[in-house]
Amino acid sequence: MAEDLRIHAGPKEEQYRTLIPQIEAVLENEKDLIANLANICAALKEQFNWLWVGFYLVKKSSDQIDSELVLGPFQGPLACTRIRKGKGVCGTAWAQEKTIIVQDVEQFPGHIACSSRSKSEIVVPVIRNQIVVGVLDVDSESLSDFDETDQQYLEQIISIIPWT
Ligand code: SME
Repeated sequence: MAEDLRIHAGPKEEQYRTLIPQIEAVLENEKDLIANLANICAALKEQFNWLWVGFYLVKKSSDQIDSELVLGPFQGPLACTRIRKGKGVCGTAWAQEKTIIVQDVEQFPGHIACSSRSKSEIVVPVIRNQIVVGVLDVDSESLSDFDETDQQYLEQIISIIPWT
């Protein structure tokens, strides 16, 4: 490491196509999970300039019985640190084990507002051995900023992370 990120200014699909090989190159040289998640957040934030890009990791709760999402590497404003399964968009993506796109966060029942500037959101669960081990959460200051293209490419990025 490290070269500067090559930022592409074309259509969204091309932006992802330019970005993904660069993320792959970063992951190739480093096996530490936190370091890799931190650089993925930085790359996504720099390319797309979203409000908030970050990971929540599934960890044991303080009672040592349940699990919850705990804030991991991120870029953007301060965020809530713990989210229970089924709560908010993140906890719902965890419970349902699928990507959730929210066009207008005010219309999502139970949405957890970490920043009043967030208007739309996508949450992609990270699934390894059929178990959700974390989620990628992205927030935008624009309404309806995420679609199936984001889902497809963000899921691709998630799939290449060596989660050890
Ligand atoms: N909005 C999320 C909470 C996390 S912050 O957006 C960073 C949710 O409803 O789960």
